[in-house]
Amino acid sequence: MPEDRIQVHDLVFKPYLAEREIRDRVRLLGMRINRDYEGKNPIFLAVLNGAFMFAADLFREVVISCEISFVKVASYKGTESSGAVKELLGLNEALQGRHVVVVEDIVDSGLTMRALLDRLSAKNPASVRIASLLLKPERLQESISVDYLGFKVPDKFLLGYGLDYNGQGRNLCSIYEPVGGDEASSSAPAEAS
Ligand code: IMP
Ligand code: MG
Repeated sequence: MPEDRIQVHDLVFKPYLAEREIRDRVRLLGMRINRDYEGKNPIFLAVLNGAFMFAADLFREVVISCEISFVKVASYKGTESSGAVKELLGLNEALQGRHVVVVEDIVDSGLTMRALLDRLSAKNPASVRIASLLLKPERLQESISVDYLGFKVPDKFLLGYGLDYNGQGRNLCSIYEPVGGDEASSSAPAEAS
């Protein structure tokens, strides 16, 4: 196995997005946030577990006054046929009149983000925007617009930089994709505009 391959459980992964590319992009997002939220004292809500690494790097770029907090979205099966219900945990701050920025690792179907946005808007914030490192546009089932987006990525399972595969791999400093049968058909991440 080539030395840049990583085995996690039953899957082998190869590099997809380098640490350096991620860092440059995160720096740019931080600069935009600094510009947009100067004097607004925003409150950042980073979504655990996956966003911890993106959040830590992003917040190091944020030089304006702000508050930082962490929330968790727990899924459990509801009694109704509607399926999984998502509950917001860990939000102790009052959001009334505040400018909120949700910080996520990835928006996939968008169901998690939709549930989060619904729960946040019930608390009457002045505004809510989304910062997400990754977005899988092909997978979106909800109309979600990511205001501060790192990369648009294709519909494939990614690992590292906070993203896990059954609990493993969150500590990797860059992002990996599974090695498929056809190594040549890899499509590159697109930097969002
Ligand atoms: P949703 O489908 O947008 O609700 O995404 C829910 C969660 O699934 C994300 O916050 C991630 O924790 C996880 N997830 C989605 N895509 C991936 C992936 O490619 N790798 C690892 N976790 C993922
Ligand atoms: Mg997540």
